[in-house]
Amino acid sequence: MLITFEGIDGAGKSTQIRKLQKLLAEKQCETIVLREPGGTEIAEKIRQILLESRHDITPVGELLLFSASRAELVQQVILPAIAEGKTVILDRFFDSTTAYQGYGRGLDAEMLQSIIRLSTFSLHPDITFYLDISPENAMLRKFSEKSLPLALEENELDRMERSGSDFYQRVRKGYHRIIEGEKNRFVVLDALDNPEKLHKEIVASLGERFPAFSGLRTP
Ligand code: TYD
Repeated sequence: MLITFEGIDGAGKSTQIRKLQKLLAEKQCETIVLREPGGTEIAEKIRQILLESRHDITPVGELLLFSASRAELVQQVILPAIAEGKTVILDRFFDSTTAYQGYGRGLDAEMLQSIIRLSTFSLHPDITFYLDISPENAMLRKFSEKSLPLALEENELDRMERSGSDFYQRVRKGYHRIIEGEKNRFVVLDALDNPEKLHKEIVASLGERFPAFSGLRTP
């Protein structure tokens, strides 16, 4: 089983992933949590290159680096875990590439799809939770109103976060388009809702869709 979480930076994916991981652990469900980019020694090195703000990377270079990290993670960690019957929770997967490199950077959609097929070995998530938030609210959430100018000044934003608000608007619209085309796979959540409410919605969706999770209850 592969469960993925998507959304622009600051949507609150990590909080929801932690809550779900805790609940599944309590129910003795063998789960591993991973994030992209990263998750193997090589993929973590690629992550550093991609996120360090001093690097200037071309859109194609960026696409290939995210894809290289993904190929390592999928082949070395995710596919073996799924084959052993584990539940894999993944913080970002190929929808991030379609949204960020496709809609955000403007790379060709068909070329992107063939690179995605190559780097994922055609692996598809069973369900994807998308946390929707505006770029403005996401930034405010990540850095409080007072510290945002300071963060910008002091270079605290990673390379992707320095792409600007127009970029993030395109990424968000991109996610909306992706969801339009694949409504069955996605569960769309309002990232500004209370975290406990979001957690309940996530658990309920898993229970409704998969018999293995039908007994799952939030406290
Ligand atoms: P990260 O710190 O993990 O961000 P978040 O906590 O928001 O997930 O950084 C990952 C960044 O890389 C994030 O800005 C999204 C971006 N990204 C892409 O542009 N393309 C991709 O394929 C992936 C996986 C991530």
